Amino acid sequence: MRTFLPMAAHVRGKRSAVTCALKCDNACLKATCNTSSNGYFRDIVDAKLSRRAVLGASAAGALALAVTTAPSPTAGSAAAAGHGTLKFTAIDPVQHEVDKFIVPKGYSWHPIVRWGDPLFPDSPKFDPENQSPEAQRRQFGYNNDFLSIQVDEADKNRALLFANQEYTNDEIMYPESMAAADKRAISREAHGLTVIELERRHKNAPWSVDVNGKKNRRFLIDTEYEFTGPAAGSDLLRTKDYPKGDKAQGTLGNCSGGLTPWGTVVSGEENFNSYFKAQGTSAADKRYGLDSEDSANGWENDVDRFDTNKPGYANEANRFGWIVEVDPWDPESTPVKHTNMGRFKHEGANVTISDSGHAVAYMGDDEKFDYLYKFVSKDKFIEGDREHNKKLLTDGDLFVAKFTGNSPKSEIDGSGDVPSDGEFDGSGQWLPLVKDGKSQVSGFSVEEVLVNTRLAADKVGPTKMDRCEDVEPNPVNGRIYVACTNNSDRGTSGKAGADEANPRTENRDGHIVEITERSGDHTGTNFDWTLLLVCGDPKQGDATYFSGFPADQVSPISCPDNVTFDSAGNLWISTDGAPDGIGYCDGLFKVTIEGRQRGRVEQFLSVPREAEVCGPLIHDEYRSAFVAVQHPGEDGSYSDQHSQFPDYVDSTDVRKGVAAMPRPTVVQVIKGQGNGGGKGKGNDKGHGNGNDKGHGNGKGKGHGKNS
Ligand code: FEO
Ligand code: CA
Ligand code: CA
Repeated sequence: MRTFLPMAAHVRGKRSAVTCALKCDNACLKATCNTSSNGYFRDIVDAKLSRRAVLGASAAGALALAVTTAPSPTAGSAAAAGHGTLKFTAIDPVQHEVDKFIVPKGYSWHPIVRWGDPLFPDSPKFDPENQSPEAQRRQFGYNNDFLSIQVDEADKNRALLFANQEYTNDEIMYPESMAAADKRAISREAHGLTVIELERRHKNAPWSVDVNGKKNRRFLIDTEYEFTGPAAGSDLLRTKDYPKGDKAQGTLGNCSGGLTPWGTVVSGEENFNSYFKAQGTSAADKRYGLDSEDSANGWENDVDRFDTNKPGYANEANRFGWIVEVDPWDPESTPVKHTNMGRFKHEGANVTISDSGHAVAYMGDDEKFDYLYKFVSKDKFIEGDREHNKKLLTDGDLFVAKFTGNSPKSEIDGSGDVPSDGEFDGSGQWLPLVKDGKSQVSGFSVEEVLVNTRLAADKVGPTKMDRCEDVEPNPVNGRIYVACTNNSDRGTSGKAGADEANPRTENRDGHIVEITERSGDHTGTNFDWTLLLVCGDPKQGDATYFSGFPADQVSPISCPDNVTFDSAGNLWISTDGAPDGIGYCDGLFKVTIEGRQRGRVEQFLSVPREAEVCGPLIHDEYRSAFVAVQHPGEDGSYSDQHSQFPDYVDSTDVRKGVAAMPRPTVVQVIKGQGNGGGKGKGNDKGHGNGNDKGHGNGKGKGHGKNS
């Protein structure tokens, strides 16, 4: 197995060395996957339509969209409610070594479910000293990223939570004395997807897990997924275990995702390559970062299929890198992987319904210099017909994005200084890869386009982006928001230089692209775009841009990752990587989109030391926000833990003889105390315990100072 030394030889990139090694297999230290010579962004002055004119023209379409895409009654979301937004006073940024979960004054925080929490009546209690694969299969998994919570419209004190478990931090999860193979066996069961029924005492009380929920379900490493779409059954998906190429076993690297308008959940398989020891010689292997070294996770030592050199498993890695769809309302349903949505390092997918009724999914490929995609369904959404709608993502057209700036190339110099027309902006095209069931890429069959999507996309000249994370349509204004998290290689030797859509050399802090589909309908192939934010800390002298909002009045923000919206259409951004950039803990931020305060960034919460913020959700009708806290204390070890989040108990309550350990956790933040009975207030520590007692536990001192 590859030697893995935390903090060793980690010279570039934003994340801690541990996250880099485990989550993305040190992608930032390796050769760029996209070495294609596909036309780098060309600056062509395009003054045909000003952005303002387009925004005005699309307003009517956006309103119609807000109506047509309102989730079905069972798929309640903030967007559907329209009851205004959470009001708060921004917290101050928090120094990166602080191990606290900090919320604004007047708010309290409550763990809903942590790594190891029981999910079923027979689940063993969490016992890290004696953890086993069998126990882990019945408990909540590790490092939850995406989160959806659908309130049951028939009983608003019940809900369905969906979460995915992206990867594990074995160094801090298991005693040093545990055998490596035993650690890996448990970690395999800590991956996957989870559905849990939630209950609460009243609409402003914190949610807690109902272990008796009939829909509670874990999707594990041996769970079968059916392939849908044109590549299902392809030779490229056949292995000796599945000679028909019609199914996959397990899901890996599940990062972000989306709640569909029909109440299912989609999840992106992202850094799947880190689970494979591969052949590493083909163009496809190289383009997907699959190499012949020992994998970061080492599972090839235990399970043959994770070594694609083993007889019969040459295609095993092709069975990952897809968008997965799960129906959390049907515990008997078979999860699927949609080949028509392409195969890459899917951050996630977010689906909206176009004015014309088609389902349109926006998707990012999260790797330096990779691309932005969209899928348009062939069939149309039918309100109330879930079984029909559940098939919409199986058949349609696939596109990749090309961005063209409207400022002279000389003004895009990599510094991040705004060009003379006042905006980083321009027009764009959705370039077809598959259309009407036919490949649009010379030399590629449809199956080849879909299985080796990166290679196919290279041929049509899309724009190399600064790592597209979440890509999400705003249900209020219809525009699409793309979080480009960072790209330390932009403009470095031999790599693509700055362009107007990715305007900073060695982009440390990332930016947000705002896309307006030009026809007002999401199925069109032309769009306009502008950068909403160029992130950083103005007080530290970073070149930043906040859509004209005064830079001295914003919260500093770095490495935007996941996004969501409140019922008024404000953008909420969670971050991953701020500590190594601007030096603060990661957080959740609100960005005003409309009006004179457009571009105003306000920090809502800050997460503990060495954690990232994932899966943000705003349920402002219930005065709540939710986040998944990933990899708290990841740079520690089992015997030298860096974080005690979320319980902050000392020693023996959780484990014998050592300090309490960090546990990745889904957290609910509620305005007020959550039920009127708790003592914890907006501060560093006050939180409810998220169990069936449903009360703030009064650990907080309630001092109301946020940092
Ligand atoms: Fe798992 Fe792109 O973050
Ligand atoms: Ca411009
Ligand atoms: Ca992410």
